[in-house]
Amino acid sequence: MLRRHVILGLLASLPGLAAAKLAPTPRQTAGPFYPWAEPEHDDADLTRVPGQPPAQGEHTRLTGRVLLPDGTPLVGARVEIWQCDAVGRYHHVRDGGRNAPDAGFQGYGYCDVDNDGAYAFRTIKPVPYSGRTPHIHLRVLDGDGRERLTTQVYVAGEPRNGRDGLFDASLAVPFEPADADGLRWAVQFNPVVQPRA
Ligand SMILES: [Fe+2]
Repeated sequence: MLRRHVILGLLASLPGLAAAKLAPTPRQTAGPFYPWAEPEHDDADLTRVPGQPPAQGEHTRLTGRVLLPDGTPLVGARVEIWQCDAVGRYHHVRDGGRNAPDAGFQGYGYCDVDNDGAYAFRTIKPVPYSGRTPHIHLRVLDGDGRERLTTQVYVAGEPRNGRDGLFDASLAVPFEPADADGLRWAVQFNPVVQPRA
Protein backbone atom coordinates (compact mmCIF):
# COMPACT_ATOMS: atom_id res chain seq x y z
CA MET A 1 0.00 0.00 0.00
CA LEU A 2 2.74 2.35 0.99
CA ARG A 3 4.77 1.45 -2.08
CA ARG A 4 1.79 2.11 -4.35
CA HIS A 5 1.33 5.48 -2.75
CA VAL A 6 4.96 6.36 -3.37
CA ILE A 7 4.77 5.29 -7.02
CA LEU A 8 1.61 7.30 -7.65
CA GLY A 9 3.24 10.28 -6.00
CA LEU A 10 6.26 9.92 -8.25
CA LEU A 11 4.09 9.68 -11.37
CA ALA A 12 2.19 12.80 -10.42
CA SER A 13 5.46 14.66 -9.99
CA LEU A 14 6.51 13.83 -13.57
CA PRO A 15 4.38 16.08 -15.78
CA GLY A 16 5.32 14.18 -18.95
CA LEU A 17 3.68 11.04 -17.58
CA ALA A 18 0.61 12.58 -16.02
CA ALA A 19 -0.49 14.19 -19.30
CA ALA A 20 1.51 14.76 -22.46
CA LYS A 21 2.46 18.42 -22.51
CA LEU A 22 3.42 19.74 -25.91
CA ALA A 23 4.95 23.17 -26.37
CA PRO A 24 2.66 25.49 -28.36
CA THR A 25 4.02 26.23 -31.83
CA PRO A 26 5.61 29.71 -31.95
CA ARG A 27 3.60 32.35 -33.76
CA GLN A 28 5.07 34.15 -36.76
CA THR A 29 3.93 37.03 -38.91
CA ALA A 30 1.47 36.32 -41.71
CA GLY A 31 3.54 38.67 -43.89
CA PRO A 32 2.11 40.80 -46.67
CA PHE A 33 1.10 37.94 -48.94
CA TYR A 34 -2.01 36.39 -47.39
CA PRO A 35 -4.56 36.28 -50.24
CA TRP A 36 -6.47 39.57 -50.40
CA ALA A 37 -9.25 38.00 -52.44
CA GLU A 38 -10.69 34.53 -52.19
CA PRO A 39 -8.77 32.47 -54.72
CA GLU A 40 -10.81 30.68 -57.37
CA HIS A 41 -8.98 27.43 -56.59
CA ASP A 42 -8.29 26.68 -52.94
CA ASP A 43 -8.27 22.90 -52.43
CA ALA A 44 -5.49 20.97 -50.69
CA ASP A 45 -3.58 20.20 -53.90
CA LEU A 46 -1.64 23.35 -54.75
CA THR A 47 0.16 21.66 -57.65
CA ARG A 48 -2.94 21.36 -59.87
CA VAL A 49 -4.89 24.22 -61.33
CA PRO A 50 -7.62 23.29 -63.83
CA GLY A 51 -6.58 23.99 -67.42
CA GLN A 52 -2.89 24.44 -66.51
CA PRO A 53 0.13 22.15 -66.57
CA PRO A 54 1.27 20.75 -63.20
CA ALA A 55 3.04 23.25 -60.95
CA GLN A 56 6.74 23.82 -61.49
CA GLY A 57 9.02 22.96 -58.60
CA GLU A 58 9.64 19.92 -56.42
CA HIS A 59 6.30 18.41 -55.49
CA THR A 60 5.97 17.81 -51.77
CA ARG A 61 3.46 16.09 -49.53
CA LEU A 62 2.89 18.10 -46.34
CA THR A 63 0.99 16.25 -43.63
CA GLY A 64 0.49 16.58 -39.90
CA ARG A 65 -1.95 16.77 -37.03
CA VAL A 66 -3.33 19.85 -35.31
CA LEU A 67 -2.93 19.23 -31.60
CA LEU A 68 -3.63 20.85 -28.26
CA PRO A 69 -0.82 20.88 -25.66
CA ASP A 70 -2.31 17.78 -23.98
CA GLY A 71 -1.84 15.83 -27.22
CA THR A 72 -5.52 15.66 -28.20
CA PRO A 73 -6.53 16.74 -31.73
CA LEU A 74 -8.22 20.07 -32.41
CA VAL A 75 -11.30 18.53 -34.03
CA GLY A 76 -13.06 20.74 -36.56
CA ALA A 77 -9.93 22.75 -37.35
CA ARG A 78 -9.02 24.08 -40.78
CA VAL A 79 -5.39 24.43 -41.92
CA GLU A 80 -4.53 27.05 -44.55
CA ILE A 81 -1.18 27.33 -46.32
CA TRP A 82 0.19 29.89 -48.75
CA GLN A 83 3.62 30.26 -50.29
CA CYS A 84 5.36 31.62 -53.35
CA ASP A 85 5.63 29.58 -56.54
CA ALA A 86 8.77 28.03 -58.04
CA VAL A 87 9.86 31.39 -59.49
CA GLY A 88 9.38 33.23 -56.18
CA ARG A 89 6.01 34.87 -56.90
CA TYR A 90 3.07 34.99 -54.51
CA HIS A 91 -0.35 34.68 -56.14
CA HIS A 92 -3.64 36.45 -55.31
CA VAL A 93 -1.69 39.43 -53.99
CA ARG A 94 -0.07 42.49 -55.45
CA ASP A 95 3.34 40.89 -55.67
CA GLY A 96 5.25 42.96 -58.20
CA GLY A 97 8.05 40.46 -58.81
CA ARG A 98 9.75 40.49 -62.18
CA ASN A 99 9.28 36.83 -63.12
CA ALA A 100 6.02 35.72 -64.73
CA PRO A 101 4.08 33.70 -62.14
CA ASP A 102 3.65 29.95 -62.58
CA ALA A 103 -0.01 29.65 -63.61
CA GLY A 104 0.06 25.97 -62.66
CA PHE A 105 0.66 26.72 -58.99
CA GLN A 106 -2.34 27.48 -56.80
CA GLY A 107 -0.49 29.64 -54.26
CA TYR A 108 -2.99 29.02 -51.46
CA GLY A 109 -5.05 26.08 -50.23
CA TYR A 110 -6.88 24.78 -47.22
CA CYS A 111 -7.65 21.41 -45.64
CA ASP A 112 -10.22 20.55 -42.97
CA VAL A 113 -8.76 18.11 -40.44
CA ASP A 114 -10.23 14.65 -39.82
CA ASN A 115 -11.24 13.26 -36.42
CA ASP A 116 -7.56 12.70 -35.54
CA GLY A 117 -6.74 16.32 -36.33
CA ALA A 118 -4.89 15.17 -39.47
CA TYR A 119 -4.45 17.25 -42.60
CA ALA A 120 -2.65 16.66 -45.90
CA PHE A 121 -1.50 18.99 -48.68
CA ARG A 122 0.29 18.53 -51.95
CA THR A 123 2.44 21.55 -52.69
CA ILE A 124 6.02 22.38 -53.73
CA LYS A 125 9.19 22.64 -51.70
CA PRO A 126 9.44 26.34 -50.90
CA VAL A 127 12.08 28.45 -52.63
CA PRO A 128 13.81 31.63 -51.43
CA TYR A 129 12.63 35.09 -52.46
CA SER A 130 14.03 38.55 -51.84
CA GLY A 131 15.78 38.26 -48.49
CA ARG A 132 13.75 35.34 -47.10
CA THR A 133 14.83 31.77 -46.57
CA PRO A 134 12.34 29.22 -48.00
CA HIS A 135 9.15 28.89 -45.93
CA ILE A 136 5.49 27.92 -46.10
CA HIS A 137 2.97 30.15 -44.34
CA LEU A 138 0.51 28.13 -42.26
CA ARG A 139 -2.59 29.20 -40.34
CA VAL A 140 -4.95 27.18 -38.14
CA LEU A 141 -8.59 28.15 -37.69
CA ASP A 142 -10.87 26.36 -35.25
CA GLY A 143 -14.35 25.06 -35.99
CA ASP A 144 -15.79 28.50 -35.23
CA GLY A 145 -13.53 30.08 -37.85
CA ARG A 146 -11.36 31.76 -35.23
CA GLU A 147 -7.65 32.12 -35.93
CA ARG A 148 -5.75 29.94 -33.45
CA LEU A 149 -2.24 30.02 -34.90
CA THR A 150 -0.36 31.77 -37.69
CA THR A 151 3.17 30.62 -38.29
CA GLN A 152 5.75 29.61 -40.92
CA VAL A 153 7.29 26.22 -41.70
CA TYR A 154 10.98 26.11 -42.65
CA VAL A 155 13.28 23.60 -44.36
CA ALA A 156 15.72 21.98 -41.90
CA GLY A 157 19.32 22.29 -43.06
CA GLU A 158 18.60 25.04 -45.59
CA PRO A 159 21.77 27.19 -45.69
CA ARG A 160 19.87 30.51 -45.94
CA ASN A 161 18.08 29.89 -42.61
CA GLY A 162 20.92 31.43 -40.63
CA ARG A 163 20.69 34.68 -42.60
CA ASP A 164 16.94 35.18 -42.14
CA GLY A 165 16.02 37.22 -39.07
CA LEU A 166 12.56 35.62 -38.87
CA PHE A 167 13.88 32.05 -38.92
CA ASP A 168 13.00 29.90 -35.87
CA ALA A 169 14.78 26.54 -35.65
CA SER A 170 11.82 25.00 -33.79
CA LEU A 171 9.74 25.55 -36.93
CA ALA A 172 12.21 23.79 -39.27
CA VAL A 173 11.25 20.30 -40.42
CA PRO A 174 13.24 17.75 -42.44
CA PHE A 175 12.17 17.20 -46.04
CA GLU A 176 12.41 13.43 -46.57
CA PRO A 177 12.88 12.05 -50.10
CA ALA A 178 9.72 10.53 -51.61
CA ASP A 179 9.39 8.79 -54.95
CA ALA A 180 5.71 7.81 -55.21
CA ASP A 181 3.04 9.65 -57.17
CA GLY A 182 5.45 12.13 -58.76
CA LEU A 183 6.46 13.45 -55.35
CA ARG A 184 10.00 14.51 -54.59
CA TRP A 185 9.61 15.21 -50.86
CA ALA A 186 7.47 14.34 -47.86
CA VAL A 187 7.37 16.47 -44.74
CA GLN A 188 5.47 16.43 -41.47
CA PHE A 189 4.49 19.39 -39.33
CA ASN A 190 2.25 19.11 -36.25
CA PRO A 191 0.96 22.54 -35.18
CA VAL A 192 0.27 22.77 -31.44
CA VAL A 193 -2.27 25.46 -30.61
CA GLN A 194 -3.02 27.06 -27.25
CA PRO A 195 -6.31 26.06 -25.63
CA ARG A 196 -8.94 28.76 -26.04
CA ALA A 197 -8.92 31.22 -23.17
FE1 LIG B 1 6.46 34.64 -47.13
